[in-house]
Amino acid sequence: MSNGDVSQSRRRFLVGATSVVGGVGVIGAAVPFVSSWQPSARAQAAGAPVTVNIDKLEPGQQITVEWRGRPVWIVRRTAEMLEGIESLTDRLRDPESRNASQPPYIEGVFRSLRPEIAVLVGICTHLGCSPEYRPEVAPADLGPAWVGGFFCACHGSRYDLAGRVYSNQPAPANLEIPPHRFDSDNVITIGLDPEDAA
Ligand code: FES
Repeated sequence: MSNGDVSQSRRRFLVGATSVVGGVGVIGAAVPFVSSWQPSARAQAAGAPVTVNIDKLEPGQQITVEWRGRPVWIVRRTAEMLEGIESLTDRLRDPESRNASQPPYIEGVFRSLRPEIAVLVGICTHLGCSPEYRPEVAPADLGPAWVGGFFCACHGSRYDLAGRVYSNQPAPANLEIPPHRFDSDNVITIGLDPEDAA
């Protein structure tokens, strides 16, 4: 894929992400989406936490919010999705996330504070495109072994629904997990650790 195609892919995603965010009631994400995944100097300097209400997030649904100029995905995973994640160990480059960028309180195959809620930085660890959310099982274009995950159309990298990259992909590492915490059952703050004072 050419650089122009990559830019197109990013732009398309930005349009989609903006409309999704508008529909789920993000608290405190006052900064609009920018035209590049590279955080602006202002965004980096600000680095403000973003608080998100996921009350209306349905099982199997994904939303995107912006944190420090980057897309952060939140997915409410179903029991079937969790089973799919557990089934993949032998097909992944780093199933235990030993070399992944994630906070120390994120452990295990689900890579989350609660099994059903995934929080991931939505940027491919290869060259920075934003992968697509592909929760379907065995779609025609991804093959019969696909149990749901994220697919990066730029160069074909595949990740599972915990952001773990498959073996033999262009992407060298699992998706990043940002610091985050639950303020209550349905309110998450991205950019603060669980032990940070409210
Ligand atoms: S940017 Fe190359 S596979 Fe994602």
